Amino acid sequence: MFLHLSMAWGVFALTLLLIGWFAAHKGNTRLHKNIMIFLTLGAWVFVGNYLLQYQSGHIPDVPPELMIWMSIHGTVAMAPLLGSVALIFARFRSCQESPGINHINHYHRLYGRVLIVLWVFTHLGGFVNYYLFT
Ligand code: HEM
Repeated sequence: MFLHLSMAWGVFALTLLLIGWFAAHKGNTRLHKNIMIFLTLGAWVFVGNYLLQYQSGHIPDVPPELMIWMSIHGTVAMAPLLGSVALIFARFRSCQESPGINHINHYHRLYGRVLIVLWVFTHLGGFVNYYLFT
């Protein structure tokens, strides 16, 4: 059940991610902002749910031959998970006297593009996992 829901969320989130990127590119900041905040919250809920499911034994064990792939997938996934929070936080705190936050916000477009590419990779990896584990 968790795998099917993950797949559905993955398709939905990936579609929204591309719409959110396109919106920023076209200057529709309001739509971009709402989508990115929604996706960031959604990603944290997804990971929280994953950990709960893992703890209660509902996630299939990773076979040894998939360990490297799953490590790469999990590690790359950390970048958009943490980076998106940093980008959002920096955007809303940018007027304050904080060089670190100002730096992140100043390079929002650059960091955002890198994060979105890693985010897309993470979702595509999730689709691969669905076929590996079902
Ligand atoms: C998950 C967090 C976010 C990511 C990954 C992200 C990503 C991006 C990307 C990739 C672009 C460049 C689009 C292009 O290719 O031309 C962009 C631009 C932009 N984003 Fe975000 N964004 C995030 C959150 C936000 C938030 C919360 C706001 C709040 C208003 C925002 C406002 C903007 C604006 C105004 C631009 C136009 C360029 C600029 O002023 O820096 N973004 N974003």
